[in-house]
Formats: sequence, structure tokens, C-alpha cells
Amino acid sequence: MPAIVLVGAQWGDEGKGKATDLLGSRVDAVVKFNGGNNAGHTIVIGSGEQREKYALHLLPSGILTPGCTPIIGNGVVIDLGVLFSEIDGLEARGVDTSRLVVSNSAHVIAPYNRTIDQVTERFLGKSKIGTTGRGIGPTYADKMARIGIRVQDLFDRDLLHAKVTGALNLKNQVLVKIYNRKGFHVDAVVDELSSYADRLRPMVTDTSLLLEQMLDRDETVVLEAGQATLLDVDHGTYPFVTSSNATAGGACTGSGIPPTRINRVIAIVKAYTTRVGEGPFPTELLDDSGDRLRNVGAEFGTTTGRPRRCGWFDAVIGRYAARINGVTDFVLTKLDVLTGLSEVPVCVAYEVDGKRHDDLPTDQAQFARAVPVYETFPGWTEDISAARTVEDLPDNARRYVDALEKMIKAPISAIGVGPGRDETVTVRDLLS
Ligand code: GDP
Ligand code: IMO
Ligand code: MG
Repeated sequence: MPAIVLVGAQWGDEGKGKATDLLGSRVDAVVKFNGGNNAGHTIVIGSGEQREKYALHLLPSGILTPGCTPIIGNGVVIDLGVLFSEIDGLEARGVDTSRLVVSNSAHVIAPYNRTIDQVTERFLGKSKIGTTGRGIGPTYADKMARIGIRVQDLFDRDLLHAKVTGALNLKNQVLVKIYNRKGFHVDAVVDELSSYADRLRPMVTDTSLLLEQMLDRDETVVLEAGQATLLDVDHGTYPFVTSSNATAGGACTGSGIPPTRINRVIAIVKAYTTRVGEGPFPTELLDDSGDRLRNVGAEFGTTTGRPRRCGWFDAVIGRYAARINGVTDFVLTKLDVLTGLSEVPVCVAYEVDGKRHDDLPTDQAQFARAVPVYETFPGWTEDISAARTVEDLPDNARRYVDALEKMIKAPISAIGVGPGRDETVTVRDLLS
């Protein structure tokens, strides 16, 4: 089986972690290819009294599956303190993390970049992005500016010292003269980063080469995105995006697997829409309906705990995600959250300045003015959490899913009806 890409279709938190975990037992490796600990994936394992909940930020979701190799690809930015505290947290709960592999070319989040992320947001004031404050943007900026620190640099103290010195020559000017903050001492930064080197060394390798060898042996590799299509730095709602490529194209550059080895792109899409942070959101609900989605769907951030902004399903975004990612299968999540609504509106198009748009306007000002055109579907009241086949779903739930499938232009191959691993309706096998 060649490589499979798994991405988020909306603004993140669609349930990518659960979907990856679901595939886990039949997958040989799960590669995280972008982002860092701005991501937060909640995974629920077992049922009843045995239910265990895990929150992952930096580790690929495959870490919870025995036998699956979790890989942090070159496209990821790593906060080493977070990495080891996440590893320690899982080990304390009996999860074996010894199979973890880390790319020698992944970039490291230096302490000054966390500070710069946070103070930049403060200086932006009303124009802030609403970042997670984890140093993600400044670390990717350093990568592009060619002053970044990579995993391999940690194993050569002289090289690390030279690189940190170069970066701080610039960064301290910005911190002290523009932001009126204290600068960082080179030796303190080098000591902090080096303190992780010995523990990290056995995990580090050329992950692109490792993946080629796995694919040559016909093993199954899942490339798992952090964030989502509309948070992609090129194809999202710029500037209210993250600083990496979260769409399917990023899977190749972020892992070192060529496009010709990928034959499937699975997009995870929520049965309604959520967003964390600032930026336009056409179907956002600022009334009781939004509160209901937030409370029933437990829409509070896994990373920052912020309440997620909630709104109805937006088929324009779904179609856009299908096009940008070349989606072969959608996994529709959280359908159960809509149970009990008398009717369910869906945004089928936008109106901008009186003109109908069936495709997402990539002009920032137009998107900010987009007014949803709604079509309303009848709701259902039956509990659907025990449904495992499409036939188990009430007629109106099935009609809702069928309508979405037609609008977003790719087959819905699985439907989430609860947070648990088994709470999934299988329409067709995602791996065959
Ligand atoms: P990710 O960032 O895309 O991995 O998603 P998050 O983990 O941040 O947010 C998704 C949340 O929805 C998590 O709390 C999941 O446990 C939960 N979840 C996933 N699928 C379903 C589903 O089908 N139904 C319900 N009720 N919850 C789900
Ligand atoms: P997962 O993988 C939802 C958002 C932040 C902010 C913007 C930029 O769990 O879906 P950053 O810290 O990346 O520079 O912040 O992106 N954001 C997310 N929103 N889910 C995520 O990840 C996110 N990662 C970043 O809220 O608006
Ligand atoms: Mg999340």
C-alpha cells in the first residue's frame, strides 16, 4: 500500500487525531509533516469504565498504537521541552514511546521564538492573529530566513553556538530595541538546547530515507497534518493562518516522500464548522445556536483551552478543501452533535456584494464580506451513537450526509458518531 495523506478540511480540530488513531492498527507508520505543539489532538480509547482520554500535541497519533512507528518529519517545528514532557506523560500511563523517530532536519523552537511570538501578538493589537503563542510563526520565519536551528545542530556544540550567536545578533536587536524586552544570552540558549541532545540522539535519523525503505517493503504510511486547509499559509485565510503548509502538498515537502508515492488523500470534515483565533468565519453563530454547538460538541481548545467559535456547515469550504487537497475520501465527524436540532442549515454558497459565489473567494476582503446562502435540512432526534452502518442512521441524518456528500464533491467514507475509537459508521474501507 502506498502512502496516504490525512488532512483537516476546515480550520482545524475536525477530529484528525481520532481518524488517524482509527487507522492505526493497520498502519505501519504515522508521520507528522507540519506544525508543532500548536496542534492538539484528543484521542479516546476503550469504552465504558475503560475509557481513556489522551491529548497529543507534538507526537503523531500513531504513538498510541502498538507496532506502529510514529515519525516526526522534517516539516515539523519541535519544542524539545514539550516533546519530552509528552513522552514522559505517556510513559507514566504505560504507553510505549520507544518507537518514536525524529527527522534530523526538523527545526527546533528556540526559547527566543516563543517570546517573539507572544510579544508580536501584543504589538499587533487589534490586528493580532490569535496564535497559540508557542513560537510556531517565528520558528518557520527563521527556517525561511535561513537562520533556523535544526535537530542535527544539537549534536555539534560549536556549530550550535555559531548558529545561536548569528540568530541572536538579529533577534536581540528586535527584542531590546523594538519590543523593549530583555535579550537572550547565547550560552544560556545553547545550554538549554544541548541539555536535550543525549536523550534525543537515539531517535534521530534521515526519516525520508527510512520512509522510502518502508514504502519499498510495501508498508502502509499515513502522513498526518496538523492544523487544516484554511489555516494553510498559502491556501488558507491569510493572514489568519498558521505558518506551515497543512494541505496535502505539504505532506511531500514535510516528509520527503514524493507525490508519486501517494495514492489517497483523506480529509477530515466536521458536520458543522469551528475556528480558534481571529479571522473571518462566514457561518459563525454568535447566538444560542452557537453556544449549543460549543457545549454539546465540547468545543474548547485542546491546546489553549480557548472556547472555539462555532457555526453551521459550510459546503463552499468543503468543496475548496476537496479541490486544494485532491481529496479521495472524506471522514465526516461529530454528526452526533447535531442530534436533537429540529432543522440543520447548511451554507451552500456565498453572496458577496450581491453576487453569488459557489467557490471560495481567495480575495481577503471579499471573503470577509461573504454572506452565507443557506439551505435547511430537517433534523433528527434519535441517538445515533450506536450506529455502525449507514442503515443504522435515521432517515434525516442519512439525507443530511447524502446532501453534504453531493455538495463537497468527494465520497464520505466514514462518519463519526462519538469520540470513541469504535463510535464510527463505516461506509467503505479507507485502506483497501
Ligand atoms: P484534531 O485537532 O483534528 O485532532 O481534533 P481535536 O482533537 O482538537 O478536536 C476534536 C474533538 O472531537 C476531540 O475532543 C475528539 O475526541 C472529538 N471527536 C472526534 N470525533 C468525534 C465524533 O464523531 N463525535 C464526537 N462527539 N466527538 C468527536
Ligand atoms: P489542530 O492540529 C485549531 C490557529 C491558532 C491561530 C492560528 C495561528 O489541533 O487542528 P499559530 O500558533 O499556529 O501561529 O496560530 O492558527 N491554530 C489552530 N486552530 N487547531 C489547530 O491545530 C491549530 N493550530 C493553530 O488558533 O488562529
Ligand atoms: Mg485540535
